Amino acid sequence: MKVLVIGGGGREHAIVHAISKSPKVDKIYAAPGNAGISELAECIDIKDTNVDALVTFAYEHKIDLTVVGPEASLALGIVDAFEAHGLKIFGPNKAAAQVECSKDWAKAVMVKHGIPTAAYRTFTDYDEALKYIHEQGAPIVLKYDGLAAGKGVVVAETMAEAEAALKDMLLDAEFGEGSVVIEQCLRGTEFSFMCMVDGNNVLPLPIAKDHKRAYDNDRGPNTGGMGAFSPVPLIPKKDVEWSLTNIMQRMADAMVDEGCSFSGLLYGGLMLTADGVKVIEFNARFGDPETEVVLPRVKSDLFSVMLEVASHKLTTRELQISDDACVGVVLASKGYPKSYDKGFRVVLPCLKPNHIIYHMGTRHKGLDLLTNGGRVLMGEALAPTLSEARQAAYNDILPSIYCDNLFYRSDIAKDF
Ligand code: AMP
Ligand code: GLY
Repeated sequence: MKVLVIGGGGREHAIVHAISKSPKVDKIYAAPGNAGISELAECIDIKDTNVDALVTFAYEHKIDLTVVGPEASLALGIVDAFEAHGLKIFGPNKAAAQVECSKDWAKAVMVKHGIPTAAYRTFTDYDEALKYIHEQGAPIVLKYDGLAAGKGVVVAETMAEAEAALKDMLLDAEFGEGSVVIEQCLRGTEFSFMCMVDGNNVLPLPIAKDHKRAYDNDRGPNTGGMGAFSPVPLIPKKDVEWSLTNIMQRMADAMVDEGCSFSGLLYGGLMLTADGVKVIEFNARFGDPETEVVLPRVKSDLFSVMLEVASHKLTTRELQISDDACVGVVLASKGYPKSYDKGFRVVLPCLKPNHIIYHMGTRHKGLDLLTNGGRVLMGEALAPTLSEARQAAYNDILPSIYCDNLFYRSDIAKDF
């Protein structure tokens, strides 16, 4: 079978890697892919948002399954466009992608169907929002409603921070015209729960935890994620089971009831609080960098499961998961998540078994490998315990990667 993977980050490298292990797969294309992906797939120079060109490519190359990585493609309705041409594609249609693309819509569905989440209200009027913030007090969370590449959320610890964020979002229209969801600030331990979903059928993957802040000890600005690990012993098994039934399954059922059945990967960004597990957010796609530490633990043929989902016949009831733990550390360009330079030369080691380097932002120039993004590489290891995996990542893999312009956090998976 022929597969097309859309996207060009570490998440897509991990997806291509997992799919390449399937005996059913003969050929993989990636659009646009990256230097690491090009070792497993043929990279084609089409942007993830150029839906028409992607449909044409898939049609002309008789692609059996397309897998969508980024939310931007989903928000444009790439799934609707492929299905209208009779092409199989793994991902939710535009209506179902609202679960990520419209925070207000997702919150309303959660409340209606009794899915636990932070109390909230939505505003478009600045004065009304300001009044609400003053009534509620700090800490308080402000979320710009719409896609803002992970940068649209401010957890304001003080009233001054909350006022400044509100001004940015509603008065200065920094993000464009839109509304703001203002919600109660929850405290607890966050984890990521990804499930394969097709309608009412939900197939869980192992949970993972990412590290969103740029620097050690959770300091510095929020990023796309600076590292991740799986499993997460901090979260008891009974809470994961509870979340599967009362959050992930209930949301899948709710979406069917709402007339926008979800098909693809439903990502729950969850928090274990003193009052149980609550939803921080849902995403309509694989998490990045969680996917990079979860997929290497999956022993089942992921391609077959994705094909079942895309065919709307998800019959697999359980995935085979390795007992090994996985720890991954992101190497990012100095300056990330603010401004940074690209084009620095990278030299990579030969890898031992159970060591992996996923490429997040790289490209080839002749024989050279160059940095080509904010997050550049993810060095990771599989081992019987999290401590051993962490040690292997930090002591064996990271020191063997040469580049002048990269930095990483030294405390990924320190507490688990
Ligand atoms: P989101 O993009 O919704 O995942 O938000 C980014 C990050 O902001 C989350 O991973 C949390 O760390 C934090 N956050 C979002 N909503 C809340 C909330 N209601 N209470 C506490 N922290 C939150
Ligand atoms: N790691 C969080 C996300 O993918 O949105």
